[in-house]
Amino acid sequence: MRADSTAGAAPASVAHIDDLQRVLDDWRRQGRSIGFVPTMGNLHNGHMSLIELAQRSADRTVVSIYVNPLQFGMGEDFAGYPRTPDEDCALLAGAGVDVLFSPLTEEIYPLGQARITRIDVPELSGILCGAVRPGHFVGVATVVTKLLNIVRPDIAVFGEKDFQQLTIVRRVVKDLCMPVTIIGAPTGREPDGLAMSSRNRYLSAAERRLAPVLYARLIEVRDAIRAGDRDYPTLQGSALHALRARGFRPDYFEVREAGGLEPPRANSAELVVLAAAWLGRARLIDNVRV
Ligand code: PAJ
Repeated sequence: MRADSTAGAAPASVAHIDDLQRVLDDWRRQGRSIGFVPTMGNLHNGHMSLIELAQRSADRTVVSIYVNPLQFGMGEDFAGYPRTPDEDCALLAGAGVDVLFSPLTEEIYPLGQARITRIDVPELSGILCGAVRPGHFVGVATVVTKLLNIVRPDIAVFGEKDFQQLTIVRRVVKDLCMPVTIIGAPTGREPDGLAMSSRNRYLSAAERRLAPVLYARLIEVRDAIRAGDRDYPTLQGSALHALRARGFRPDYFEVREAGGLEPPRANSAELVVLAAAWLGRARLIDNVRV
């Protein structure tokens, strides 16, 4: 769909909301459709596959980079989260992204984080990752709603890697009647199966060699379910045990319905197996559809 922008040129880099909106208004006047990929930067090939999907789905692409303080809890890695603006910009230029939006916290949270209107999706925000990271998904849903309202894209792409996040974003968009199509993109993996993540750099060399075991356990449970095993508590329990035996500290390993993340029922149509586990300083999350 992109006929007239050149890969290689650096994207226009915009920090202010009103500057961004001037560019977007021009595009809309020209009848261009807009694709959007929100990120926290430290871009890897997983992010780049989302960007390619956005470029295939719309005429113009905006990528945002914003390490959102509201979605980090006390004692989490907000301060140490990897920030690599020069490398990110080079990757975006190579991909031919039109605009990089790096908003300022003063504009995203003008009255401070404590006073911002919040978006909370009951139940979905409190289970799985939300149960061990209180407030995290309220922070995600709030910033994603703000970014979608600022950019007003036709389509926005999110990774299936963060399956609960994708589910929550879809729900927010539906509940608040936001005029955007959410596209889910498959998980980008390293050759040994480890899901790409900015946090993988927290792994030591030995932990990095061990890390693909998480994906291997997910695949094992998926295959058991495909083969007809319906004893989910036992499948989950053995996976947790196997992970602990290898030195992981799992937060959860769960089989859920893919649509709304409810526990599986006898007639569940589509299932997903989700896990989160600490390995050293890194908290790895991953999932596979059944
Ligand atoms: P971040 O972790 O930077 O991820 C940005 C987007 O890339 C998300 O949609 C995420 O699911 C996707 N992604 C990350 N790793 C991926 C992989 N290996 N394969 C495919 N997609 C992958 O997720 C966030 O930022 C933030 O919570 C955000 C949505 C930007 C809100 O602050």
